[in-house]
Amino acid sequence: MIDELVRRLSSARSVCVLTGSGISAESGLPTFRGVGGLWRTHRVEQLASPAGFERDPVLVWTWYNERRAAHGQASPSAAHRALAALEPRYPDFTLATQNVDSLHLRAGSKNVVELHGNLREARCTGCGATYSLERGMPLERIEHECGGRFRPQIVWFGEALPQREWTLAADAAMRAEVMLVIGTSAMVHPAASLATRYARDAWIAEVNPEATAISDAVDLSLRATASEILSDVVARLGA
Ligand code: OAD
Repeated sequence: MIDELVRRLSSARSVCVLTGSGISAESGLPTFRGVGGLWRTHRVEQLASPAGFERDPVLVWTWYNERRAAHGQASPSAAHRALAALEPRYPDFTLATQNVDSLHLRAGSKNVVELHGNLREARCTGCGATYSLERGMPLERIEHECGGRFRPQIVWFGEALPQREWTLAADAAMRAEVMLVIGTSAMVHPAASLATRYARDAWIAEVNPEATAISDAVDLSLRATASEILSDVVARLGA
């Protein structure tokens, strides 16, 4: 089965990849819906919604500061590194990620589109000023002098994706000859619709140890970890 993936990747010029938290599981970071997943042990509406932030910004920032620290201690996995190694092979390669952990960038991927934002900076809800989160958000600086508040540069439930990122990812999916969907349950839209609606002309492969919401709609489901499959693909392509 992996032979077909390697064959498709060896002749394609246009590749689009969608990743989710499963690709960072091998870096030791929790997923959202799996065993020990963040949404199993935390209340989404408290921590990842505009209303939750309005109610208790200190709680929200305490949680994101902890997550940011965990991201900083994690290292890119073999799967992150494999995608970075694949990229230079292609004239058109876009890596759209739902992850906010910066691990693709740290692995050396260049054309990364962060659909759900990042935890490198905070943004003021009032004036739009940004604050670099090198050491996290100091809790005493959440309230901004303009009357607004610094919030994580993250897409929360009920919010639209950033327009520029969405357009880049949707266009890349529409151009793609091969689309890879890696380490995501594909339950969150519109990200998942990159594969199901936008990658109309692409041959689509999914890499995930478990079945997902889109398994029936893809051309190939590889039931293994991202590192297992991607390391093998890179070795076979000689990337
Ligand atoms: P989920 O927790 O929904 O799904 C993680 C997926 O990773 C599951 O399908 C696992 O089977 C798979 N997985 C686990 N280990 C893996 C491995 N080693 N290799 C490959 N796959 C593996 O997380 P996401 O799909 O990322 O959004 O969730 C999507 C969005 O929902 C997140 O970006 C976040 C969340 O709410 C926001 O916060 C806006």
